[in-house]
Amino acid sequence: MNPGAMVALRVYRWAPGSAERWQEYRIPAAVDLTVLDALVEVQRTQDGTLAFRYACRVGMCGSCAMVVNGRERWACRTRLSALGPRVTVRPLYHFPLVRDLVVDMEPFVAKMKTVGAAFVPRAEAQQFAAIGSQSRERRAIDPALECIGCGACLSACTMVAHDPGFPGPAALNRAFTLMADSRDPAKAERWVPLLSEDALWRCHAQASCTEVCPMELSPTDSILRLRRRAVASLLRS
Ligand code: SF4
Ligand code: FES
Repeated sequence: MNPGAMVALRVYRWAPGSAERWQEYRIPAAVDLTVLDALVEVQRTQDGTLAFRYACRVGMCGSCAMVVNGRERWACRTRLSALGPRVTVRPLYHFPLVRDLVVDMEPFVAKMKTVGAAFVPRAEAQQFAAIGSQSRERRAIDPALECIGCGACLSACTMVAHDPGFPGPAALNRAFTLMADSRDPAKAERWVPLLSEDALWRCHAQASCTEVCPMELSPTDSILRLRRRAVASLLRS
């Protein structure tokens, strides 16, 4: 796209008590302008009522996750110039809508809780129980560790839409890291929800979550590895 060319930004709009609609704004596609920059510019110069969420603006917090041209992305990491002259922006799927592009992240937290996604320290644990960075255990968990809870994978997951009881990719990815962590003793309790009919076996491994994760994690891989761990543990018992 030529620098200075106009981009038509089509944005989903909704507020409590009003009907949903799409609103189009036109904005010059300056070099390196991101989708988030464009939304900020629209809010600043054209429409102060437009609501969206962001914090860091540099791809660190995940709060600007939204669906841009049909795909979950971080608005602050997505350049307009890569998207063509017409850009459609809507909120993440499968979350309650607060307003315009802002969703309520509570279901994300709730799904984490269903699989016991908090580390459980042993009663006798030292304050800092280190696992060596080069150890086999640490290398197994490493690729799944950097989730920052943006919700993009949940939005992209078709099983989340189909089964509200499905914990979703991020929670299962987190469960994988804890089930592989020798310092965490809560494995027996965690297997109960993980082996229920709504959890591990529900994933169809379509990998939509992996395709959209801006942190380049593969929740699909974590789920498949957790399944293998489950089978091994069932065979042992
Ligand atoms: S796994 Fe990736 S896409 Fe899903 S919440 Fe974590 S960082 Fe976001
Ligand atoms: S605003 Fe923090 S990742 Fe986009």
